[in-house]
Amino acid sequence: MNTNEIRWQSPSNIALIKYWGKRSFQLPMNPSLSISLKQSFTDTRLVYTRKERANTDLSFEFYFEDRRNLGFECKIRNWLIHVKPHLEFLDDYELKVYSSNNFPHSSGIASSASSFSALALCLCSMEKEVTNDINDFDSFEQKASYLARLGSGSASRSIYGKFAVWGKSDLIPGSSDEYAIPLTNPVHENFADLCDSILIVASSAKKISSTVGHHLMENNPFAEARYGVAKSNLNKMLDVLKSGDEKSFIRIVENEALSLHAMFLTSSPGYFLCLPGTLSIINKIRSYCETSGLFLCFTLDAGPNVHLLYPKRFQTAIHAFIKSELLQYCENERWIDDEIGGGPYFIGS
Ligand code: PMV
Repeated sequence: MNTNEIRWQSPSNIALIKYWGKRSFQLPMNPSLSISLKQSFTDTRLVYTRKERANTDLSFEFYFEDRRNLGFECKIRNWLIHVKPHLEFLDDYELKVYSSNNFPHSSGIASSASSFSALALCLCSMEKEVTNDINDFDSFEQKASYLARLGSGSASRSIYGKFAVWGKSDLIPGSSDEYAIPLTNPVHENFADLCDSILIVASSAKKISSTVGHHLMENNPFAEARYGVAKSNLNKMLDVLKSGDEKSFIRIVENEALSLHAMFLTSSPGYFLCLPGTLSIINKIRSYCETSGLFLCFTLDAGPNVHLLYPKRFQTAIHAFIKSELLQYCENERWIDDEIGGGPYFIGS
């Protein structure tokens, strides 16, 4: 039997400028910017075996933490249908995917970005091995980002370390709605070693999936304004990243989190993903910043958990603040201590 395997680890990311609202198939209504994390990643092993007889059936099994998981399998099978036209060799192979996350189960941390990016990287490595060819794409990463985007928009950004941009912006050469690119604009040293402490307010699954949430933007009367705010915030953020202006960084990042959540509130039907603990944490962060003067801000994903962003030099002080003031609002006092990371890691083949 002709069996081979490929293994990648790929990180989760947190958006500073948020993507919310899409058009056509998985294309964003506005550009977004994120940092890739270091400690929160998905580890994916792709085992592929050449079929004895070629056929057009998609032969695929998905194992999560060593157990077959039919729920994930169904989701990924749908994605593979969209991916197949770009990887024509797939019909010739039986695929088995073994995946696990190193962040805790049910931590409320979205794993779609890390898992789709890890799998896209495995498939691109497989393409390289079986065909020696990367068709129509400038680079291996660009194709991986394109394929990951077809599964989950934010996954397109996890292909790169540090800062990544997905979505066309006139101020970022090479940016595209089709795939993410690493940010090559200058980044001041104030932002080079950002830490991200993730406070787990609740770990239960979201009431509204991101697929439904993006869809609700189509009838949100504030949607156009939101896309304008995101574009303008991205432009301002590029200046801020260059100048090192920490106060403006805080203002933009927090504005992005709150305007994302404003979209949840103003959708029809409206919904809210913040919990009382989320708001208490935000209030405490704001008064702590006022009194301490430290560079610390919060951001939110589509859920109740709060990400605290700050530079490494304040880590000791902020850890102490988290433990004494904020853990009381977390589910079982849970939090994940993460930081900006270098991107996916090829384990081997
Ligand atoms: O990638 P999706 O479709 O799960 O959307 C995620 C969008 C946010 O996480 C809320 C923001 C972002 O840009 O990551």
